[in-house]
Amino acid sequence: MSDLPKIELHLHLEGAAPPDLVRALAREKSVDLSGLFDADGGGYRYDGFLDFLRVYEGATSVLRSPEDYARLTRVVLERSAETGVIYTEAFLSPDFCGGRDPSAWRDYLAAIREAAGTARRDFGIDMRAIVTCIRHFGPDKARETALCAAETAGDFVTGFGMGGDEGRGRQGDFAYAFDMAREAGLRLTTHAGEWAGPDSVRQALDDLRVERIGHGVRAVEDAALVDRLAGDGIVLEVCPGSNVALGLYRWATHPIETLRAAGVKVTVSTDDPPFFHTDMGHEYDRLAETFGWDDDAFREIARVAARAAFCDDRTRQELLERIDR
Ligand code: ADE
Ligand code: ZN
Repeated sequence: MSDLPKIELHLHLEGAAPPDLVRALAREKSVDLSGLFDADGGGYRYDGFLDFLRVYEGATSVLRSPEDYARLTRVVLERSAETGVIYTEAFLSPDFCGGRDPSAWRDYLAAIREAAGTARRDFGIDMRAIVTCIRHFGPDKARETALCAAETAGDFVTGFGMGGDEGRGRQGDFAYAFDMAREAGLRLTTHAGEWAGPDSVRQALDDLRVERIGHGVRAVEDAALVDRLAGDGIVLEVCPGSNVALGLYRWATHPIETLRAAGVKVTVSTDDPPFFHTDMGHEYDRLAETFGWDDDAFREIARVAARAAFCDDRTRQELLERIDR
């Protein structure tokens, strides 16, 4: 399935860091990260979601300069393009890129943007950035993150979102940050309905007024909410392999097919590919095996994602043409 054109709407840039790159950066900076990797060194070692977040932040600790992020951006986009991805929206966190200092953030962003431009020319993949606050860092830090996002909103930074531990606080605690981002013209998404149930998805819609939901799969537990998502055209950034790797579902019982059959707009992404031993080709292969999805089904998934992408209409038109070529 790697030849089908793919659109990925949910990819954490740090979460896509190949272990080889993280090991090289650790060596260059004389940091011992050996405990983070699995036995063969090809992946990361963690035990459950909260430990995953800890290991994620550990791996991210060696990304310390704009130049490190430029290297990361290039290798991530190169690997995505190899699996047929033509457009990706990457979550970027000013928490890790300069500690939420707006001036440092601009330097990181400039390096990431330049690397994305080069990758566009070299690998044919487009990228946009969704600035992301981290829920377990709390609402005050989220406001600082939103300020970074608002100051750099434009044709590359096009969205604002939130990841992190969904068990901490409520979506509405972050309303100020999301309001600020909305006023700056950014489009909105948040992780919801991954580690918390349907109420978290409702709060995301009512209190943060997002147009897309990261994951959202646990909405399936509430029929009225599924109807609302379908009726309002809310797009879910579903990451099945991530859910399976973190023990939320098995492939055979993953709700993506039920949601799709109920008329919910679902898309497919990888979340943090090396952490979950996945890539977009692997996701497509498993969805085809598990649910019998064929090329037409995948092309429709890609069209849904292109229509929901946080990009300008000219780029969207180009993506739709590439999907149907
Ligand atoms: N950050 C990176 N991956 C995440 C996930 N699956 N859920 C919440 N926050 C994340
Ligand atoms: Zn995520």
